[in-house]
Amino acid sequence: MKAQSKPESTAAKALTKALGGTRVDPPPVWLMRQAGRYLPEYRALRKQAPDFMACCNNPVMAAEITLQPIRRFALDAAIVFSDILIVPHAMGRHVRFAEGEGPLLEPLGGHGDVDRLDPLRVVEGNQALMETLALVKAELDNKTALIGFAGAPFTLVAYMIDGKGGGVFARTRALMTEDPALLDRLLSILAEAVSNLLIAEIDAGAEAVQIFDSWAGLLAGGKGFERWSIKPIATIVSAVHAARPGVPVIGFPRAAGDGYDAFIAGTGVDAIQVDQMTPLSTMQALQKTLPVQGNLNPEVLLAGGVGLTDQVHAIRAALAGGPHVFNLGHGVIKETPPEHVAELVAALREPSGMVS
Ligand code: CP3
Repeated sequence: MKAQSKPESTAAKALTKALGGTRVDPPPVWLMRQAGRYLPEYRALRKQAPDFMACCNNPVMAAEITLQPIRRFALDAAIVFSDILIVPHAMGRHVRFAEGEGPLLEPLGGHGDVDRLDPLRVVEGNQALMETLALVKAELDNKTALIGFAGAPFTLVAYMIDGKGGGVFARTRALMTEDPALLDRLLSILAEAVSNLLIAEIDAGAEAVQIFDSWAGLLAGGKGFERWSIKPIATIVSAVHAARPGVPVIGFPRAAGDGYDAFIAGTGVDAIQVDQMTPLSTMQALQKTLPVQGNLNPEVLLAGGVGLTDQVHAIRAALAGGPHVFNLGHGVIKETPPEHVAELVAALREPSGMVS
């Protein structure tokens, strides 16, 4: 059955309607990294905490940061302010954010370090996140949905093995050939941890959850994509569906190239977030199977002006035939003027007759 032929859902929120398979016009909108450094009110609050992890671990502060973009732009969803690296942190790996360098982790040694990882610590170690979700939920009106999230096992493991981001991940790549069984073991530990975390986020108030496989592109096109991206995410999706049926799970295998079909079929996600490299024609094809989310280029948002409004109209028009959630193809760039986000939302919400 085509996703867009499902009956109108009774849910009042545009986001949950669209994620449930209903065509909503104009489409609901939220932006990856909608809370963060491009907002002066975020930078002001962030200065009051010793570091970024302390912000995430302070529920009052994290709830306030989550709500900042909602107040400014009346977006259709709030995404809880946190980070994907709270998972390795709760499992006992040291994580810090060095100014200008991104995240730095103590790289995993070998089997001994893997033995010491305890997936059960991930929920108890992240009670601050659960409190943040509850605080935000209490503040949202009945139109705005709350999204929880987690990193996908492969992306988390890549940070844990290499100790830093940047896209090279030389140690992770080496492990794929030198000790693939160790990688399998790590990924199944992380799949259990992430399943437990997402279920707890739902219990704390999340109405949808997104799994960020930001570095899935390292695997795309090879056999590893099925084994190390799709398979662990499939484990998570079935655990979440079994435990909390009806809550949509959005998958984001960034830079998956031509791997989206395999990802959707193999993981069982309810909706797919695509990056800005994905053509609108591919999104239209995917939309016949499930709701699609995306995919404005964050650089177009950074630039603003007529280029921005034209692109917003083009994406909306191309995907108007089925369930669509408007988003970027990756996170908001920190130099983005906040007014450009207001322009994006206004352009998207113009009456459809004005949109060519
Ligand atoms: O979307 C939102 O508004 C919610 C908040 C959110 C953050 N990180 C806050 C954050 C989300 C959803 C994330 C996810 C995340 N974190 C991902 C997946 C998405 C993606 O970008 O691919 C990844 C890979 C991370 C790991 C991470 N955290 C990196 C690479 C960095 C450094 C980024 C940079 O630009 O310096 C972070 C830090 C981070 N996470 C910041 C924020 C607001 C900046 C920290 C600061 O204020 O100093």
